[in-house]
Formats: sequence, C-alpha cells, structure tokens
Amino acid sequence: MKTALKVNGRTRIVDAPGDKPLLWVLREELELSGPKFGCGQGLCGACTVLLDGQAVRSCSTPLSAVGKAAITTIEGVGASEVGQKVAAAWVDQDVPQCGYCQAGQIMSAVALLSANPRPGEAEIDAAMSGNLCRCGTYHRIRAAIRQAVT
Ligand code: FES
Repeated sequence: MKTALKVNGRTRIVDAPGDKPLLWVLREELELSGPKFGCGQGLCGACTVLLDGQAVRSCSTPLSAVGKAAITTIEGVGASEVGQKVAAAWVDQDVPQCGYCQAGQIMSAVALLSANPRPGEAEIDAAMSGNLCRCGTYHRIRAAIRQAVT
C-alpha cells in the first residue's frame, strides 16, 4: 500500500502494509535509523518519535494509524528551537553512555518541553518514566532537561 508520510518536514512515499509498525517503516523504508528497537512492545521508549508533537512508541504504532500527522524523528529534532535546546543540553551534560536509548529519551523530553516549557519535577517524572536506560543515565538526563528549561 502506497502511503504519503510527512517526515521531518518532507513528504515521503512508502510502499508498506498498513499493519507494519512505524518503527520499521522509518528504519527500513526511509533509512532513518535514529529510532531504535528495544522491546517491540511499547515498554522501553527506545523507539519514541513525535506525531504532531506527541511522543509515541513507533514500535506499537501501525503505519495505518499515522494518517496526516507530522512525524519527527531524532534526525529532525534540530528543526525546532526546543529540539535544538534539548540536543545542546544533552551534549553539555554528556548524557549518553552506550547511547542506545538516547534518541527516545530526547524525543520524550522535546515533547514535554514543547507542551510545557516550565515543567515541575512530577511532570518531568511523568513524561520520562516510560523511557528506560540500562546504563542508568537518569541523573544526567534530568540535568539536561533542567538545563534546557532555564
Ligand atoms: Fe518501542 Fe521498546 S521498542 S517501546
């Protein structure tokens, strides 16, 4: 099935079944390898992308559910001011260890700060709790979010 997707500000045509997870459409059809496969069940957050600014788990979002929503992956995060601030804070705080989960972490942080530029600690907890990091970089993630808020 041919589908037009708006990805990182460009219209891209993909030929894939409607039940194919968006994660694999992005990685296999569009060669956007930033979103990562972790659990495949919507539990770890490694595959997080934005759909119209909302953080979603692309592993459990079928292509048919995307519709006309604008997709933003880590490859397009620098197009927004919030994305630039978050990415710069991630570099300043030297957040990643192995790095595997970090694209998803950044996308969740961007979704949070785009909707709520001054989140409280509980709001940060709620927004980031679905993004797991096996290296335990949570303190640096939190420091980067605090830096991006200021
Ligand atoms: Fe999608 Fe884990 S790979 S949430």
